Formats: sequence, C-alpha cells, structure tokens
Amino acid sequence: MRVFIPRDAAALAVGADRVAAAIVSEAQARGVALEIVRTGSRGMFWLEPLVEVETPGGRMGYGKVGVRDVPGLFDADFQSGGWHEKSTGMVEKIPFFAKQDRLTFARCGVIDPLDLDAYRALGGYDGLARALQLGAAQTVAEVKASGLRGRGGAGFPTGIKWETVRTAVAAQKYIVCNADEGDSGTFADRMLMEGDPFTLIEGMTIAAAAVGATRGYIYVRSEYPHAIRTMNDAIAIACRAGLLGRAVMGSAYDFELEVRVGAGAYVCGEETALLESLEGKRGQVRAKPPIPALAGLFGKPTVVNNLVSFATIPFILEKGAAAYADYGMGRSRGTMPVQIAGNVKHGGLFEVAFGITLGELVNEIGGGSATGRPVRAVQAGGPLGAYFPPALFDTPYDYEAFAARDGLIGHGGLVVFDDSVDMAKMARFAMAFCAHESCGKCTPCRIGSTRGVEVIDKIVAGHAAEENIALVKDLCETMKFGSLCALGGFTPYPVLSALHHFPEDFAPAAIPAA
Ligand code: NAI
Ligand code: SF4
Repeated sequence: MRVFIPRDAAALAVGADRVAAAIVSEAQARGVALEIVRTGSRGMFWLEPLVEVETPGGRMGYGKVGVRDVPGLFDADFQSGGWHEKSTGMVEKIPFFAKQDRLTFARCGVIDPLDLDAYRALGGYDGLARALQLGAAQTVAEVKASGLRGRGGAGFPTGIKWETVRTAVAAQKYIVCNADEGDSGTFADRMLMEGDPFTLIEGMTIAAAAVGATRGYIYVRSEYPHAIRTMNDAIAIACRAGLLGRAVMGSAYDFELEVRVGAGAYVCGEETALLESLEGKRGQVRAKPPIPALAGLFGKPTVVNNLVSFATIPFILEKGAAAYADYGMGRSRGTMPVQIAGNVKHGGLFEVAFGITLGELVNEIGGGSATGRPVRAVQAGGPLGAYFPPALFDTPYDYEAFAARDGLIGHGGLVVFDDSVDMAKMARFAMAFCAHESCGKCTPCRIGSTRGVEVIDKIVAGHAAEENIALVKDLCETMKFGSLCALGGFTPYPVLSALHHFPEDFAPAAIPAA
C-alpha cells in the first residue's frame, strides 16, 4: 500500500516529517509493509498534515494527523482505508477540492515532486513535445489564443509578450521566472515549486523554444528554502534526462536554467527591480520604456513572467488553447489559483475558473471567518489591493470586474478579516508598508508614504480630521499617477478603499468593534 504524506512547507510546519517518521516506525514495529510517497500539498491547509492512502476506490484522507494519532490509525487499518476519527473520506470528494478546476495545479499534492516518471505518466512533457512539433510562431499563436494573462498581477496577455520577444532581433534572449511572491497571503508560487517543479521547468522550456532564448533564471525569494531546494533538485534531474541543456528532448533547442535567490525585498517582485537584482545590482526600479521584452536582462530581449503563468503553459500546449479558453468569463480566460488566507475557516489554494463571486470564495469555499464572527473586509490582491466590504461580495472574480470596483486581482491572494478589524490601522499599515519597502527612486512613493502615515495618525487622533482626510485623498492621487511603479502607484488602493467603505473607523477616537 502507498501512503502519501506532503513535504510542502505548510505541512512541514505542522509536523508532517514527524508524522511520516512515526508511520514508518509503527509500520516496522507491526510488520506492515507500506511505501511512503512524499508529495506536495493539495492546498487544504486546515487539514495538514493530510495523510492519504491509496485504495481501489481512490485516495482516502486522514486530516490534521498528529504523531499521537499514528497507533490508532494502524489499529483502524488505515493502510487499507479503514475508518478513523481523522478520516476525511475520499480526498477528491472533499467539497473544497471537488469544486475546483485544477488545470495548473493538477499534479500538485498528487505525485512525488521529484519523480519524473510520475510527472510524465500524468501528461508531463506532452506540452513541450507538441510545442516542438508546432514550432515557435505556432506555439506563440497557441498561447495567444488561450487568452492567458499574466498571473503576477497586471494581467497583460502572455502571448503578446512572447510575440514581442520572439520577433525582437538579438543574439541572446532570456527567460526569467518571477517567483519572488511578495504579496501577503499568497503562496501559489511556493506550492507549485515544492509540489510540481517540472511543470514550471516545462513551461519555461516551452517559452524558451517559442521565443528563441537559450538561458533562463528562476528568481526565488530567500524565505522559500524548501522551494529552492526542490527546484534545484528538479533542474538537475531534468538535465540528466535530456530535458534541459543541449538539444532539449533531442530538438535543435538548447536551454540552460538556474535558480537565483533574492534577498527578500518586496520591490524585487517588480520586474525591472528583479532584473537589476539578477544582474547583481541593488534592486531598484528602472523606468519603462524600454520594456523588458525588448531590453531586459543585461539589456537583451527577455520574457519575464510570473511562475503561475509559466506553469499554466504545459496544459495549454498539451490540451490546446481552446481547452483552456473554455474556462472563465469575459476577457479573463482560464483559471486562477485563488489563495484564501487570513481569518478564515478553510484557508488554502483553490484553483477555479474566473467568474466565481468573491462572496462564494470567502463564505462558501473559505467557510467564513475562523473566529466565527462576521466577515467585515477582504483584501484582494496583496498589500496593494483594495479592501472589499460584504456589500461588494457579488463582484465576480474577473480582472475587469475588480478594476471597475477599484480593486485588483493581483496574484490571486484574498486575506479575510472579521469585524474586530480596525480599518484605519489597516490604511496606516499600507502607507507604512510602502515607506518600508520603497526603493526610494521616486518622490511620491518615497516621501508620500511617510507623509501618509503621519496624516493618518493625525486623522485618528482627531486633528482637523476633515481637512486631513482630504489631504490623504489628494496625496493618494499624487501617488497613483506620479509613482514610477506599482508599489507607490497601488498603495492608494487599500487606503482609499478603507476610507471609502469604512469611514466610521476614521472618526476621531473611533472604537474598533469589540
Ligand atoms: P505593467 O502593466 O506595467 O506591465 C505588465 C507586463 O506587461 C510587464 O511585464 C510589461 O513589461 C509587459 N508589457 C507591457 N507592454 C508590453 C508590450 N507591448 N509587449 C510586451 N510586454 C509588454 O504592470 P507591472 O508594473 O509589471 O505589474 C503591476 C502589477 O503587479 C500590479 O497589478 C500588482 O497586482 C502586481 N504585483 C504583484 C506582486 C506579486 O507578489 N506577485 C507584488 C506586487 C505587485
Ligand atoms: Fe521605487 Fe516606490 Fe518609485 Fe516604485 S514607486 S520606483 S518602489 S520609489
């Protein structure tokens, strides 16, 4: 019997390694033969460590397993799927999982992330094989037809970006994966790297063949040590299997790929600061134009995409553009790995077609707040995203619908707050975060964020509150339109949304709801 135990950082943090060791020693003591497979996470974090057992009817789950549960699991014959109080039933029937459209994360949590045969048995490298057959121009056309938009946050059409790089004339081109994942409440990049790294490698290799690049870099934040290790191991395996390096898969393409570790600055998630950092310089934003697609890494044409964008490419090439474009609404095609976090009952990664409402995600999928108190606000799109009150929970998850309500989908993060949140504090935090993370290149962000903190403090202290509210709104306009990059330019969104939807929290001596 095979027993699956995640090795994802979220599962390790709650004892997955100890549970795995306890299962091995209990099996030895009882003379039970079983094979342990360490997987990524299924993304149902409230159930971690989630132990799964292969049965003829599918994988039976046992959630929140602790070392002390292990003897009882053997008593219940869990290795044959026996019932135990920690049983979750068949994992793929758990509503949080069953309601998903797992395209990009299809293999995450299912296979050993470093088992190349398991990856290939589930369609891995079929996408690259098809791309090599199609050739560069047709591969780019396929990506365009899929409607895939950049999953880092800006939602720029991936196929158009690739076309710009493909048609640029240069002796050297690069592929850069942005896995800096600085947004609060987001973990999709990390989960994919730890749970299914070959999908990223395959997606980047397809990009390289499509635009004529021969070198690639995965820029990962240093706070992700498990992801870094798994990616490096996967790259070594792919090299040995002829899937990276010279003549990839026996084709005419060469592609060298390596991991580079950032030092943990939020602004290095901005593509030009990331490129500076990759070049060994201080991570400071470059003015655009020129866009990286034409003059990126070392001044050469460069595809810079978020990890989720690259990881979605193998599905598109394997199944065809139409199969991907079939999901979604309006101009938001395909699926998004929504990351539900904060004060929420069922936190985790939920990959779903665009079009589901924010309310469904928070209340039905997330199960409402973990405290059981009413949800008061949800911040969508990371620390630069707007706060949505329940009155806007009918907003469909769609780039344009969110923008119409002054919000952002960003990298797919949702952070839930119950009614004890103080929104003036959250607005102050946005300005303080910007002041802390600013690269210092432009005045509206560098100076504006510090002045913003001071003015919000005055409002809350009751000093000429009305004039100061007007002042902070004016400052936000300056930051929005005068900043060089999204850090200064988007900080106003959480501030203005807090002021707009929760004005009562900015009244002098406002008392947060108890
Ligand atoms: P942007 O709108 O300037 O650019 C989007 C992308 O399209 C860039 O890669 C740009 O180089 C490319 N592009 C634009 N015109 C092009 C053309 N004609 N041909 C080829 N490529 C072209 O947006 P930006 O500043 O790169 O990103 C802002 C977003 O980043 C925000 O929406 C925010 O949500 C998100 N963000 C994400 C974070 C994360 O942790 N993933 C952190 C902070 C912000
Ligand atoms: Fe740097 Fe802020 Fe200006 Fe961006 S907005 S370039 S982070 S100072």
